[in-house]
Amino acid sequence: MQVQIISARKVKESSGGGYKMFRGLGQGIKAYHYAVVFADGKRYETQTEYEHPGQKIEFNKQQQIEDAIKWHTKQVEKNNLEQIVIINNKLQYFTKKLLTLSKKEIDFFKHKLFPILNQFTRLQQIIKLGSKYNIPLRQIRELTELGYIYYFNNIIRGLDKAGGMAAFNKVVADYEKLPTLTTRTSTIVDLAQYSTPAPVAYLFGEFAGEVEIAFDPTAGNGMLFLNVKAKEKYGNEISLYRLKNLNYQGINTTYFDATKEFPEDYKQKFDFVVTNPPFGTFPPMKFDKYEITSLEHYIVLKALETMKPTGKAAIIVGGNVNYDTNGIITPGKFRQFLFYLYSRYNVVDVLNCSGDLYYKMGASFPITIIFIKGITHQPKYPPRVDFDFSTGMTNSPNQIQHFEAIKSRVENLI
Ligand SMILES: C[S@@+](CC[C@H](N)C(=O)[O-])C[C@H]1O[C@@H](n2cnc3c(N)ncnc32)[C@H](O)[C@@H]1O
Repeated sequence: MQVQIISARKVKESSGGGYKMFRGLGQGIKAYHYAVVFADGKRYETQTEYEHPGQKIEFNKQQQIEDAIKWHTKQVEKNNLEQIVIINNKLQYFTKKLLTLSKKEIDFFKHKLFPILNQFTRLQQIIKLGSKYNIPLRQIRELTELGYIYYFNNIIRGLDKAGGMAAFNKVVADYEKLPTLTTRTSTIVDLAQYSTPAPVAYLFGEFAGEVEIAFDPTAGNGMLFLNVKAKEKYGNEISLYRLKNLNYQGINTTYFDATKEFPEDYKQKFDFVVTNPPFGTFPPMKFDKYEITSLEHYIVLKALETMKPTGKAAIIVGGNVNYDTNGIITPGKFRQFLFYLYSRYNVVDVLNCSGDLYYKMGASFPITIIFIKGITHQPKYPPRVDFDFSTGMTNSPNQIQHFEAIKSRVENLI
């Protein structure tokens, strides 16, 4: 890629506070977005956040950022600049080399690991093999997951010609057999990098059907694309290890912070948005009258802005939805999130799932799966849920314990 910058200019400001914000009287922060256009016509939009309420505006900020971009671009020119992003006023740039698996890693993956992947019973055995070839521990884990993706993809391509979710049983059976991804490095914990179980990823692909263009805002190693039949796949990710694996699969990658704005041309661009964001808390943020306080809820809502009005979305968020004895969602973060979702989107199903479905991926936290088909022009409220209180469960009703039950629910949606 040619890296000469044609322009780096401020394209918009976002805050929501208008003049009050300008005077430091409003709430929140002011964000400035920059478009950086390269000589080959590629255009990147970046966002930087530096102005908090009450802070004095520095009028030379834009010039400083332009200068920084130009300077850094020169430094990395010879290394083939791929992407440039500003996060918290810090310029980050990525070269082809940084985003590509090395020859050593590819050789290990292709010739040593993948051909015998289903013979391993414990991750420890794979780690032993990888260390023999001097592959760092963290990379061994990620390459193992990449191996799972190729492994299941082969099964699906072989069996699904028959249609009718023919590969489902084999995907579940082999998922149970493959080694558990138990390594818990600090990055895995900090960025909540627990990947989606293959059977769930498979069912998401069935829900999507054939689409032109799909997007995962926190794509990890690409597990959620496992069974997505899209002409183009876009994966955004913050971990360099994982970006390498996404690139290896031919996925269009970007390194944006998913809690910030995606580029302007991502708005309503994708037929299918699929996501399992990191779970955590987030500074309260208003969406209409609803207050969003979860990291994953916030990322989901930003990601849904990239879905076409007639698109579909399959979403995983942390925890289960609790209901009162009238079948109404109990007050709290889920209520705010789901009330907002139903007011904007055509939510077609919400599934409370047991954390046990996740144990193979190194986690055991219960999850909720949400399916969406397009936006709605007639705001709705979440429907009341009928369930059996005689079982002694007063919350998390009808928690799904098996992949088979998710399959039945998906079958009702396609
Ligand atoms: C729960 S994992 C899911 C990965 C993949 N989509 C899947 O389902 O297997 C969440 C991913 O989000 C990435 N991540 C965490 N914070 C992020 C952020 N602010 N922006 C983009 N990606 C982020 C992590 O590195 C991790 O790979």
